Amino acid sequence: MSKLTILLYPDPRLHTVAQPVTEVNDEIRQLIKDMGETMYAAPGVGLAATQVDVHQRIIVIDTSPARDSLRAYINPEILEATGIADCDEGCLSVPGIYEKTQRAQHVRVRALGADGEPFEHEAEGLEAVCIQHEMDHLDGKVFVERLSRLKQQRILAKIKKRQREAA
Ligand code: NI
Repeated sequence: MSKLTILLYPDPRLHTVAQPVTEVNDEIRQLIKDMGETMYAAPGVGLAATQVDVHQRIIVIDTSPARDSLRAYINPEILEATGIADCDEGCLSVPGIYEKTQRAQHVRVRALGADGEPFEHEAEGLEAVCIQHEMDHLDGKVFVERLSRLKQQRILAKIKKRQREAA
């Protein structure tokens, strides 16, 4: 296994729309393992392939307190989204930035697992928010783009200032 490099906002590669996975093979399974390792090391609760510059429709999520329930979703689709969750959203590609957003409280998702078999999963709260957030990445969207233009400008200014300080 190996840790992958996470792209940082506003890297334009984060705006790439990912392609569906056509075959769940050993290469995809290895990618899923590496994405899991990268996510746990960050540490984070979810990661999309887009964030590691692989533009295929794969996300991994683990919102369990014990951090021992990695779930991979290949070619995920939301079948049902209900309710409203107010959340404090963050992203491994936008480190240190947390902003209030609204997402569906409950989702029902269909995807392929790492074994290539289709499954359906129902999620609530943090897990549901996380699924929606990671699926946005596959469509080339970063959560800050859901915020007002003013907030986006403030976040970009903060990131640029931090980059200057680090240089
Ligand atoms: Ni993210």
